[in-house]
Amino acid sequence: MPMMLDAWSVAALVLAALLLVMLAMKLRARLALSRAKHRSLAGHARLSRRVAALVPRYAFDDARFFAADDAPADVAGRRRAAFEDLSRLLRTRGVRTLDQTAEAAAHLSDLQFTESYRVPFPFSPTVKAHLPAGSFLAASTGVQVTDLDGNACYDLTGSYGVNLLGYDFYKACMERGARRVNALGPVLGAYPSLVADNVARLARISGKQEISFHMSGTEAVMQAVRLARYHTRRSQLVRFCGAYHGWWGDVQPGVGNPVPAHDTYTLAEMSDATLSVLKSRRDIACVLVNPLQALHPNIGAPADTTLVHSRPDRSVDRAAYAAWLRALRAICSARGIVLIFDEVFVGFRLAPGGAQDYFGVEADIVTYGKTVGGGLPVGVVCGHHRFMKRFREDHPADICFARGTFNSHPYVMAAMNEFLLHLEGPEMQALYRDLDATWAGRAATLNRRLAERGLPLQVAHLSSIWTVCHTASSRYNWMLQYYLKAHGLALSWVGTGRLVFSLNFSDADFEAVAERFLAAADSMRRDGWWEPGALGSDRAIKRRILREMLGAAIAPWRPGRRRPDLVGGRPLEQIPNGATQTTSP
Ligand SMILES: Cc1ncc(COP(=O)(O)O)c(C=O)c1O
Repeated sequence: MPMMLDAWSVAALVLAALLLVMLAMKLRARLALSRAKHRSLAGHARLSRRVAALVPRYAFDDARFFAADDAPADVAGRRRAAFEDLSRLLRTRGVRTLDQTAEAAAHLSDLQFTESYRVPFPFSPTVKAHLPAGSFLAASTGVQVTDLDGNACYDLTGSYGVNLLGYDFYKACMERGARRVNALGPVLGAYPSLVADNVARLARISGKQEISFHMSGTEAVMQAVRLARYHTRRSQLVRFCGAYHGWWGDVQPGVGNPVPAHDTYTLAEMSDATLSVLKSRRDIACVLVNPLQALHPNIGAPADTTLVHSRPDRSVDRAAYAAWLRALRAICSARGIVLIFDEVFVGFRLAPGGAQDYFGVEADIVTYGKTVGGGLPVGVVCGHHRFMKRFREDHPADICFARGTFNSHPYVMAAMNEFLLHLEGPEMQALYRDLDATWAGRAATLNRRLAERGLPLQVAHLSSIWTVCHTASSRYNWMLQYYLKAHGLALSWVGTGRLVFSLNFSDADFEAVAERFLAAADSMRRDGWWEPGALGSDRAIKRRILREMLGAAIAPWRPGRRRPDLVGGRPLEQIPNGATQTTSP
């Protein structure tokens, strides 16, 4: 009997030891994962969603709006007068455009959202009311767009990156393409014959064997990740902090997605801790890279809505980013992880072979979109046969499903063919040769002129994709977008965070943009928005914002105030259109 007990005890001890070892290993892996997260809030998807849900809405009243940095009365007065002038100018110049925007906004959810998120939210209601932005255009030509009132502006929106070669080029692609497939019309399911040429060209450009077509960049990314999971039989997707890959839940695990993405790890980019995780974990199917992040690794797409203080100057370190991609490549190859380059934004903009070519690193799968549709909506996945195959020879029911009614739409395929034909032509190849030098030269010239005038601005860029860096701390840096607009420069709703040039900007066009940019910045300085007030540093501004938020959060509970109605434990949105309670801390 004692012998029996001993045997049981030994077995129990062995089991306990095994469990402890397993627990320790799990803990170590978890710790390694935590260490590989970027220290910013954006690096912690769950936490950032929780924090975002707690941020109370508050808005500056009339007096506070012009002195949110405790600026003296004379500075606030200058700002107010300039604001009123700008308001008058923008309103009188674009009556029809603004009327139509206001009318449509009631029924256009997207418009309601973008209008509310052009500037930091405490400023938003006043800006919306007095500096309305028209969201309708009538025409595009050369490097300009024209609104419904006939105002022409230099287009720095780049149509979210689609406009690589100028709007007239895409008009021609769509027109010529439509003529080539008119006989077939909108027939789906079978292909127009030019699809064969598209896939041959895309295979050559990407260096991959197989292609699939989708309806958007988001869907291309979804399919690339699905294929990686299918072929590796692993669940986890690694994306990098700050990188945008469309709005599918798995690639947007943080703010903006109401549910957590359980199969996504958001790790720090250009980090040894991330490489260690990739080396040690067995559940990682793929690593998703957006090469645009070379411009601002680990930081989300810069936008004026989040511009609460300075946005420091950062230059792209192409060699360092290339070295990072090489390190990723080596580990992915060694660990059987699928390396996906998401070139939906940068593809065709950097080099003839895209980001793979520009950084000298080959991915397993590449996604393209935007410009490759020749002006029409598209998503493309290019990959080696072993990653693209959607069924298994030995298990016929084990398939990787992918469809989409409008995939390979004849008109899209035809416009794409026009784009690809041009891409491989001599004119485009010549353009690529001087591309980096051209845009680096333009950025350097503008930066020199900004510095000579002592303006607190610089631009950073990845080729023709630019971001404005505000080099001084101010709560009003976001105002620059309205001065640029007043000077005839069209920006997208993210404001100065993203200026996207099309490659048909001539030197003269660029000079005109530079002149307007400098004039706009001069006016903004003259009007006092960069006077530091009492908050002359990022730290002081951040501290003040925290104080304002705390004040707004406890305001409803202050004695004498009515508590907000609660639904599911959360205060109801109190007043529509962002015009919520005001605060004057
Ligand atoms: C890198 C990247 N991937 C995916 C997407 C999503 O593309 P789409 O908007 O066509 O769905 C975008 C869009 O901006 C992007 O920049």
